[in-house]
Amino acid sequence: QVTTPLSTPSTVTSSDFAFAFDIDGVLVRGGQPIPEAVQAMKYINGENPYGVKVPYVFLTNGGGKSEEERCADLSRQLEMEICPGQFICGHTPMREMAEQYNTVLVVGGEGEKCRGVAEGYGFKNVITPGDIIKTRNDTTPWRRLTDEENENSRKIDLENTQIEAIFVFADSRDWAGDQQIILDILMTVEGKLGTRSEVFNEGPPCFFSHNDVIWSTSHEHSRIGMGALKTSLEAVYNAITGKDLNTFAFGKPQMSTFTFATKLLQDWRQDSHGIDKPPSTVYFIGDTPESDIRGTNEFNNKSEIDWYSILVKTGVWQDKTIPRYPPRKICDNVYDAIKFAIEREQ
Ligand code: G3P
Ligand code: MG
Repeated sequence: QVTTPLSTPSTVTSSDFAFAFDIDGVLVRGGQPIPEAVQAMKYINGENPYGVKVPYVFLTNGGGKSEEERCADLSRQLEMEICPGQFICGHTPMREMAEQYNTVLVVGGEGEKCRGVAEGYGFKNVITPGDIIKTRNDTTPWRRLTDEENENSRKIDLENTQIEAIFVFADSRDWAGDQQIILDILMTVEGKLGTRSEVFNEGPPCFFSHNDVIWSTSHEHSRIGMGALKTSLEAVYNAITGKDLNTFAFGKPQMSTFTFATKLLQDWRQDSHGIDKPPSTVYFIGDTPESDIRGTNEFNNKSEIDWYSILVKTGVWQDKTIPRYPPRKICDNVYDAIKFAIEREQ
């Protein structure tokens, strides 16, 4: 006689629907998991009354570390294994520009860490603000490198270096110094560091990994983020040169990011679950109307898949306000959101 132990109910992976998660303000806040997040991930992995497991990917605007390192952090926080094959961060799509630009300025993140991330993407000559300050410390009148930054920075040839593009990979740790250096480069002739333009429209392009003006941390009120730096930089550039500065942002709500996510989800479903058809619905759970909800709703208008936006209240949510981009559903937290979606599919 064959018996199936009751303690391990069999689970079935659904091929009909999938989830995409924002991270900050949905699963994590200030480096700690949101209380309902661990339970929510168990629910999605089969610990639910329907015995259903649902495939999912993560889509964060955050960054500053390699995808592998970020997944290791998230696996620890959520007590489950998360693979780079199901993860996109703000700077992931910048990988595709490594062929186009050789010498680049990479800004943001802890210490000199983003240099390694950019080199991992294949950028050949990565220069950081630390390199420029180490070479000429009066570049930033008030900023001095820490011993660690100094050790990890390299002196460069300021007269003969041409920066082909500027990439802001992660939040700047020093707005004044980083803005000074970005502005100096934007005001050159084609990124040649020894030059200064007379017309201020011949600098290299400047890319940001996302445009979130605010984001959710351990503080009870939202904190300003990379989108605020972008706005500030554009305003200062205009104040100095009288010209408008055109910068570019990746991340949510850009449609290209959602197209990238669709492909990632398709590959992940195929490779790890053996599903070879697209899902009918993707539930996107986010906390920021301007990036998560706006992007999901706009992408839904173009996509054959139903991208269903769910806003949770654990991030930048403010009581008694109406989200600028209305979601199709509002839930208290990620656990309620997953429960709602799985029940809706039954
Ligand atoms: O800096 C990261 C932040 O702006 C948003 O991250 O996970 O909410 O997209 P996330
Ligand atoms: Mg968020």
